[in-house]
Amino acid sequence: MLNRYPDPDSIVKEGKSTKEYRNYETPTRDTVKEFYRLNHINQTYDFVLEKKEDFLKLDKKEMSVWDALEFLNQLVDDSDPDTDLDQLQHLLQTSEAIRADGHPDWMVLTGLFHDMGKVLCLFGEPQWATVGDTYPVGCAFSDKIVFSEFFKQNPDYSNPTYNSVYGVYEPNCGLSNVHMSWGHDEYVYYMMKNYLPESALYILRYHSFYPQHRENAYEHLMDKHDSKSKYRFSILMKSGFTNFS
Ligand SMILES: [Fe+2]
Ligand SMILES: [Fe+2]
Repeated sequence: MLNRYPDPDSIVKEGKSTKEYRNYETPTRDTVKEFYRLNHINQTYDFVLEKKEDFLKLDKKEMSVWDALEFLNQLVDDSDPDTDLDQLQHLLQTSEAIRADGHPDWMVLTGLFHDMGKVLCLFGEPQWATVGDTYPVGCAFSDKIVFSEFFKQNPDYSNPTYNSVYGVYEPNCGLSNVHMSWGHDEYVYYMMKNYLPESALYILRYHSFYPQHRENAYEHLMDKHDSKSKYRFSILMKSGFTNFS
């Protein structure tokens, strides 16, 4: 039991230094690069719209939060260069790191729930359509996105409707008007939409948007509301919360 549900203090303190996380240049797990190749080739604007149409009806399966967390324990995330930890440990680690930094209970709960959308794998979805960093589709892919060289093989890369800086969007239209690459962030946002405060929902929805959180690569699509929320992400990042994705 102790092995499966380790003492939260021990998980928080045993971590790596901030710089050691998210090291894609010498990833310790060789599945990571192949994961991003498939992700970047296949995440097109049309693909995202189809997935939203299909999955956001939320008609696939009903389960309790605990059942979802138990299910996630079977999954090893191919996009994460840092860890082979099971998902439940990752969620406990995340939420306990937030608690240890003195953040309010709603943020601790958000940390615990943040990856519940990975139940998409239960419906047979491939990992490249479930996990990994997210980014806008329908406009030019930023070269700040990890392994961005693979986008050259994405059909949208050479489609003039989608490959300009703004693509199908208006300047500073706000992230709520932007379609993000499809995965567990958008899915958990819809799962929790009627149950959590807006601040928590925003964190859930954009928690894997590292090209913006780390690189500010999509500032031109952000509106005032996004800029306020940016501050919240910067607090989370500072709290040693470097493996949130
Ligand atoms: Fe995540
Ligand atoms: Fe995560």
